[in-house]
Amino acid sequence: MKNIKLTDNTISLKNINSLINWLKKNPRLTKGDLTLKFEKIFSNWIKRRYSIFVNSGSSANLLIAQGLLEAKMLKNKIMIAPAVSWVTTVTPFLQMGYDVKLCDCSKSDLGLDISHLEKLCKRYRPSLLILVHVLGHANDMKSIKKICSKYKVRIIEDTCEALGSTYEGKNLGTLGIASTFSFYYGHHISTIEGGMLTLDDKKLYNILLSIRSHGWGRDLENYERNQLEKKYKIDNVRSLYTFYYSGFNLRPTDLNAFLGIQQMKVLTKKIRIRFRNFKLYLKNLSSFWAQQSGAKTVSNFGYAIMVKNRKELFDYLKKNKIETRPLICGNMGQQPFWLKRYKRPHLPNAEKIHQYGLYLPNHENLTEKQVKYICEKVKLKALPYNFT
Ligand SMILES: Cc1ncc(COP(=O)(O)O)c(C=O)c1O
Repeated sequence: MKNIKLTDNTISLKNINSLINWLKKNPRLTKGDLTLKFEKIFSNWIKRRYSIFVNSGSSANLLIAQGLLEAKMLKNKIMIAPAVSWVTTVTPFLQMGYDVKLCDCSKSDLGLDISHLEKLCKRYRPSLLILVHVLGHANDMKSIKKICSKYKVRIIEDTCEALGSTYEGKNLGTLGIASTFSFYYGHHISTIEGGMLTLDDKKLYNILLSIRSHGWGRDLENYERNQLEKKYKIDNVRSLYTFYYSGFNLRPTDLNAFLGIQQMKVLTKKIRIRFRNFKLYLKNLSSFWAQQSGAKTVSNFGYAIMVKNRKELFDYLKKNKIETRPLICGNMGQQPFWLKRYKRPHLPNAEKIHQYGLYLPNHENLTEKQVKYICEKVKLKALPYNFT
């Protein structure tokens, strides 16, 4: 048996050959028409009005963190983020000066713990929440939306691990004011590096287009650009070099967009395989705690397990050529970057994830036979932790 990778390259040889043929035509490589085309395809697929392609999922989070401030959409800078998340779900907001409160995770879907979320909302009156649909599972969006509407909190979905998962007839990534996606290696689709931000608000969309490219006006829709030029009395000489917002350069290239467009054609198949593998794990590891959520389709990013002998199992699986890793970043509140700024928060569930959580491989090239083999090895060595 060859090495079973945790994630695999989602860019196929066919994609690379098409890319080579396209490159031979000497096309424009920087952000251009293909970026616009990819954004349109993505919007139609996910069912959202606007998409903005950027150079990573982390950049998409940074873009929305800054965009909401420039758009003056928040009543304060207090926000809630999940303790079980990715580091750049949290750090762009810290960098932009937000006061971030970590929320504990649910023991079933590994998203937000609902009662802790409500406590934080009551105590801190935040204006913003970012959540993560961990490993392709949905948060309890019904309860979260209820709480957020009660306390007037805006929701951003970090959907970097859940492209294609559905919840109550909708795609994850369409349930808040904006959502972010990652197209890094091993994600559902890959553009080498890349990410997407989707939203429906026209004004915010235009601000984000500007922030993506230095804060200038030239990427804006005509109407918005004309309005700003009128307001600031900008003539055609200064038009290209006037900066309306404090921006970054988070742009992708058309080369990345080319790969994205190719892979959108086979995304449904990729999701089907990930979901099939998830169900197979669930069946074969039925005596273990399992991550469960209200997602109808689980576009699974990896299969979560909780084990008492994590190091022993990790080493054993490695010896048997099976790659595993800790469950995302564990508890953000126990990461050194957090502890340099703040005291360690008390987050009992996330602490368990930090100590006992692992996730097993899932990707579009993982076969049913390999999933069964992984489960056999896990059952032989693992001491399940009862996370209930
Ligand atoms: C939940 C989550 N958010 C953000 C990111 C960052 O995406 P990228 O690696 O494209 O910057 C990741 C990466 O895996 C992630 O899992």
